[in-house]
Amino acid sequence: MATVLYIHANIKPEGTSRSKQVADEFVKQYRTLHPEDTLIELDLYKEDIDFLRPTDLMVTAREFDESARSATHLRYADQFAKADKYIFATPLWNLGLPAIVKAYFDYVTAAGITFTYTAQGPVGLLENKKAIHFAARGGFYTEGPAADYEMADRYLKTILAFLGVYDYQTVAIEGLDAGGDSHQIVSDIVTTLPQLAETF
Ligand SMILES: Cc1cc2nc3c(=O)[nH]c(=O)nc-3n(C[C@H](O)[C@H](O)[C@H](O)COP(=O)(O)O)c2cc1C
Repeated sequence: MATVLYIHANIKPEGTSRSKQVADEFVKQYRTLHPEDTLIELDLYKEDIDFLRPTDLMVTAREFDESARSATHLRYADQFAKADKYIFATPLWNLGLPAIVKAYFDYVTAAGITFTYTAQGPVGLLENKKAIHFAARGGFYTEGPAADYEMADRYLKTILAFLGVYDYQTVAIEGLDAGGDSHQIVSDIVTTLPQLAETF
């Protein structure tokens, strides 16, 4: 029995985010195939997430500070460490992730919980986990001249690897605002979901 964290961040009215539309469908199919798993949904805009403040600085590293043990924002790091699988749904904003996702990772990336320092440098503490990222984009970044400009999926993949999560796949929902048929783009991706939900 796995614990699955479904993390999304979007300010669009309900039912209009393409990343969430696809990820919701994936989650629906996943739940049918894996009814024994526990699914926890985090809408980051409804969570207690803020930019790190001066008072948070001392408590981002539980490893060094016993008083950090009760720091409320570290509950996100604890929750993340306890999960087995992660589903992300994000839009591409100005070549990166919505800032709230980065703020979330500033809570999650906590020494002593999700990574630790060793003589050889930092090492991720998360083992045997996997992640999938539903990445919606107005333009095209999977290949072509803009590929180097994409820093949302790249960040997510990199920070997760830093924490020890190497089993990572991207589902790019792209070209949504490029003048083509965005409904078709979404429905084409939806046809690939049963297999993804089966193997995730
Ligand atoms: C604030 C903002 C910034 C955006 N920046 C980019 C961008 O840098 N590159 C891009 O291809 N699309 C950009 N877009 C378009 C979105 O990535 C695209 O509409 C995507 O479908 C949004 O996902 P969603 O439907 O889940 O909200 C931006 C949209 C917004 C609202």
